[in-house]
Amino acid sequence: MKKIKIIAPATIANIVCGFDVLGLAVNIPNDEIIMKKSDDPGIRINKIYGAKLSKKIKKNVISLALQALLKKYKKSNIGFEIEIYKNIQPGSGIGSSAASAAGIVVGANYLLGNPFNKIDLIKFAMEGERLAGGVPHADNVAPAIMGGITLIRSYKPLDIISLRSPENIWVSIIHPQIEIKTSDARELLKQQILMTEAIPQLGNLAALIAGLYKKDSNLISRSLNDVIVEPIRAILIPAFNELKIKCKSRGALGGGISGSGPSVFMLSKGKNKAELVSNVMENIYSKLELKYKIYTSSIKQTGIVYYEFKI
Ligand code: HSE
Repeated sequence: MKKIKIIAPATIANIVCGFDVLGLAVNIPNDEIIMKKSDDPGIRINKIYGAKLSKKIKKNVISLALQALLKKYKKSNIGFEIEIYKNIQPGSGIGSSAASAAGIVVGANYLLGNPFNKIDLIKFAMEGERLAGGVPHADNVAPAIMGGITLIRSYKPLDIISLRSPENIWVSIIHPQIEIKTSDARELLKQQILMTEAIPQLGNLAALIAGLYKKDSNLISRSLNDVIVEPIRAILIPAFNELKIKCKSRGALGGGISGSGPSVFMLSKGKNKAELVSNVMENIYSKLELKYKIYTSSIKQTGIVYYEFKI
């Protein structure tokens, strides 16, 4: 019987101007899942370390994603034993639920002999995201599974493009230790936008992608601008404006809210600059009475990986 360890990365959804359509994977932090098939049918989450999460089937993104996969697999006598090691805190804005949902379906696919392709797996993982966000968005699970930077051209049908990600772009992330539920952060948003908002947003999104392809960091920097979502959600994040202004003044290309927050991320050219930007973030937050975690990472080019153990 095979037993595998799955490593599922944190992800940054939206990348400022691409609400629900852009996302990228980072090398740290990541979750680990230990999983094996069982002759006893059913999904059993035996241990969850690092976070308080429900083991109940209907309240767990892992079970919902796995159930979606098993429904399509159409064999009823399958069982899985699962242990989860959460390093990505729920409600952090860096794809905690996506790492769980995407990790479990990638692992299950391997244990079942790879019957599904990546688009199928993203669709199953999105069913887990439906629980966390109220809406099955794919901008965390797609980069978690595919790696790099991904663009969702269309949800119906699901059409996902892997974008060029320049090797020297690094990411600084600050995770204030407060929890913002994606579903709550989505409820704040308006259901309709104005032409005066749509036009600059489309310009920035298109120009960001052009900047990635041209490896033009100045263009990337000019395009990291969100006129639709950030002005509404920024109020939830302590010192958000100060983070943006000071990080950019010290050389960050730009950044904003990671997913639905509270994490804030900045992109920089090169590791040294990203470390400096992380220090700027730390200096700002060390003056607040709030715990935080900081990560400096390159973009993770491969998605979820897994290793086999012999039992
Ligand atoms: N695009 C989603 C949102 C990502 O911003 O609500 C959530 O991680």
